[in-house]
Order: sequence, then C-alpha cells, then structure tokens
Amino acid sequence: MSTEKIYYTTPGMSEDDARTLVGLLQDRLHAMNDLHLTLKHVHWNVVGPHFIAVHEMIDPHVEEVRGYADDLAERIATLGGSPKGTPGSIVSERQWDEYSLRRDVTQAHLGALDVVYHGVLTSHREAIETAGDLDPVTEDMLIGQVDKLELFHWFVRAHLENAGGHLSTEGATSETEAASQAGNA
Ligand SMILES: [Fe+2]
Repeated sequence: MSTEKIYYTTPGMSEDDARTLVGLLQDRLHAMNDLHLTLKHVHWNVVGPHFIAVHEMIDPHVEEVRGYADDLAERIATLGGSPKGTPGSIVSERQWDEYSLRRDVTQAHLGALDVVYHGVLTSHREAIETAGDLDPVTEDMLIGQVDKLELFHWFVRAHLENAGGHLSTEGATSETEAASQAGNA
C-alpha cells in the first residue's frame, strides 16, 4: 500500500483501497518504464546474423510498453495518487536487478529477455489477483497489458524453441545463465 495521503479518489472507491491500488500500479509503472528502456538497450546492442530481425521486432513493442506506462500513470492520477516516473525513483524502488547484458549476439539477448518477461509477467499476474478483489477497472487494464506482453514473450521464445518444443533456456535461473544456454544452443 502507498503511504501517500489521498485527498480524493474515484466515486465508490474507499481511500484504503485506492492507496493499495496506487501502490500496486506504481510498482507496475516502474516495471513498464524499466522494460521499455531495457528493450531499447537490447535494440541497440544485439549483433550477429539475425540482427535486423530482432532489432526491428523490438521497436513496435517498445511503443506498446510506453503506452502501458502512460495508462498505469494516468490510472494512478485518476485514483487520486501522484505517479512517479523519474529515473531515480525507478532505480531506488524497483525490486529487480538492472538488465545485465551489453553488446551480445541475438540469441543471448533473447535468452535474457525470456527471464525478464518471466519476472514481469509473474508480477503483472499477481497485480491482477489483488486488483481483482478491489477494482475491476484496474484489473481489466492489467489483463489487457498481460495479453500483449505474453504475445511478445512468445515471439521471444519462438527464437529459443527447438523442433521438439523445448526452450534452450530451460532450467535457467538468471539472465546470464539463460543468455549462455541460448547462445550455445
Ligand atoms: Fe532504432
């Protein structure tokens, strides 16, 4: 729950519920701001024979994720909160580590992104669970975002899958481990 004072919220919503939703939405806003910056970083740092496919696959999704950040921030404001979008607030409040790869082959970045999306999607689904008890409008927004985030996750995974349906990142527990397994597959 956000500790910030809320002076008004949307009609029919209690102040406590609004504060819980603002805290949950702020965490997802940090995640989406971090994600669209990370995706651009990947867009600039991929190398290898599949450069252009991966480089160009990322940009339309960056626009989608930037739109999700905008929607989350405006939902926070609608509920009476004050959205934080500064770089310092992302870094100091996020519960995950900075993306760890620099220049690397496309398969390595895609392997690392598989782990990134695993984290993002798990947290978005947890947020849906909480929002579902408090506010169907916020829940609906998050469900729409998960739909497109999962679709892009499949785009990533389709590059990591073999003809037998196995992912090269199977069993990996970190970005570097997944990158190494995908790069060596
Ligand atoms: Fe570009």
